[in-house]
Amino acid sequence: MDLSRFLLKNYQNKLNNGSVTWSSPSNIALVKYWGKKEHQIPENPSISFTLDSCKTITKLIYSKKNEVDNNFDFEVYLDEELKPDFHPKIETFFKRIESYVPFLKEFKFTIKTKNTFPHSSGIASSASGMSALALCIMSIEKQLNSNLSEEEFIKKASFLARLGSGSACRSLEGDLVVWGKHPNIEGSNDLFGVKYPYKVHEIFKDYNDTILLVDKGEKQVSSTVGHNLMHGHPFASQRFDQAIDNITKIKSILESGDLDQFMALVESEALTLHAMMMTSMPYFILMKPNTLEIINKIWQFRQETGLPVCFTLDAGANVHVLYPNKYKDKIYEFIKAQLVAYCQNGHYICDKIGFGAKQL
Ligand code: DP6
Repeated sequence: MDLSRFLLKNYQNKLNNGSVTWSSPSNIALVKYWGKKEHQIPENPSISFTLDSCKTITKLIYSKKNEVDNNFDFEVYLDEELKPDFHPKIETFFKRIESYVPFLKEFKFTIKTKNTFPHSSGIASSASGMSALALCIMSIEKQLNSNLSEEEFIKKASFLARLGSGSACRSLEGDLVVWGKHPNIEGSNDLFGVKYPYKVHEIFKDYNDTILLVDKGEKQVSSTVGHNLMHGHPFASQRFDQAIDNITKIKSILESGDLDQFMALVESEALTLHAMMMTSMPYFILMKPNTLEIINKIWQFRQETGLPVCFTLDAGANVHVLYPNKYKDKIYEFIKAQLVAYCQNGHYICDKIGFGAKQL
């Protein structure tokens, strides 16, 4: 695809100072992104539910420099506390996006960010964090280029967010977003996420995601390292083909509302993701004993009651418990009675499908 559509040409910077604020949610993949090429291009397409309450709120305060130099000038605060350790990640992000938003070096920025979920929850904040920051930067671009349409604004914001963290490009809209080119999904592409464009059965409209915090510690292996281990991985090409096939399958499942097929596909995707980690070289395991305890309890409960509850995992030990709102009462009772005991300090987060980022 042509990258030149994302370049900002012929702008006049008459902005002096001000601030913009965006709130952007996290997302949970149903078909997983695991493996990428250069420039944050995914090896396979993925699809996710956008979440609602797990989000990052970022305020970007800008003031024009008196003299433009060759440096990115910014400070980052998390919960009002200066965070120099966030610097390298944001510096890398700015370097990657600079050619598309050439005004970055013309301003001094203060980035004030906070998450609605605890920082030490083991929940990745990169999707919500990078998408919120990308949107703030786009709000500045919008002030420099009033011709920018809303559609192009959101596409470019997703394009920039992807360069910060791949999964971040799926957080801007809701309630289902596809990222990565797939022959059966119109408009899908590797450069930005697109709202899932087809009919979705009622049952998927108000899905719940109860996130069980099994391990709140820092991950031993970062996603970036994990993605890289897919290069030369013995099962890589089969995995990428499987993901393409699963997107085709989930398209008909989303239309028909077949929950048995949905649960089988989503759980298989989660276990395949972790199987890739266990079979890479070096190999690693991010699940904990309590992750497996929870999975077994879910299977047992499902067999006994026939209720449609399933799990998915991201690159960590925490378990996302997915279920339609229609069955909420019984399934939530089960979670409290049988699963919360496996959470670190009994902590969990009740989330549900959401509809994307908002400017505040
Ligand atoms: C397991 O988006 O965190 O959550 O692009 O290196 O920032 P980077 O990786 P990241 O990878 C997330 C992978 C996943 C699956 C998914 O969200 O699709």
